[in-house]
Amino acid sequence: MNTPVWALSLAYWMHMLATVTWIGGLAVFTLLVLPAARRTLDADVYAALVERFQTRFDAIGWFSVAVLLGSGMLQMSANPNYEGFLAINSRWAVAILIKHLIFVVMIAVSAAITWGVLPALRRAALLRARGRETPELPALLKRGALLMRLNLALGVIVLALTALARAS
Ligand code: HEM
Repeated sequence: MNTPVWALSLAYWMHMLATVTWIGGLAVFTLLVLPAARRTLDADVYAALVERFQTRFDAIGWFSVAVLLGSGMLQMSANPNYEGFLAINSRWAVAILIKHLIFVVMIAVSAAITWGVLPALRRAALLRARGRETPELPALLKRGALLMRLNLALGVIVLALTALARAS
């Protein structure tokens, strides 16, 4: 049975909105906000900005992941190139498979931020509010920025694989 045009249009719209929001957010934060903030803000304010931004972006990121997965599954099932689960016998199927594997790595990187970096940043913010020293903070901020940049690079590769799939 053919997927109704309205459903496929909605899936592509959601898929591209989630792409723009997640990958776009990673690009703006790592390429524009962080470098500018590092040069203009003192350490306390910089740490507070990063913690606030990453906390808000974290929720948006996980929502985008869910939308990409749901809309992507529909797009895949409707695509004439799709010949079933693990039927990897075309360039389209190879590109989409590698795209999925990288997507799983991006989810693992996001999990390291959500359950590793963010709780530690919050703890450091609480300690600093009580006037305590937090020598681990610069390394923590560096790790957070590195993981965000890694996810941006992986997102760029996902888009390249999508372009290859589209051209196949
Ligand atoms: C970081 C995650 C992802 C990003 C950034 C992303 C991005 C995109 C973009 C921009 C398109 C092209 C839309 C168009 O112009 O037609 C697309 C197509 C597609 N995506 Fe994704 N996607 C992601 C994850 C997924 C996942 C998890 C799935 C499957 C579960 C998926 C399945 C598809 C399929 C089947 C297509 C259509 C390919 C074709 O037309 O040949 N995507 N994706």
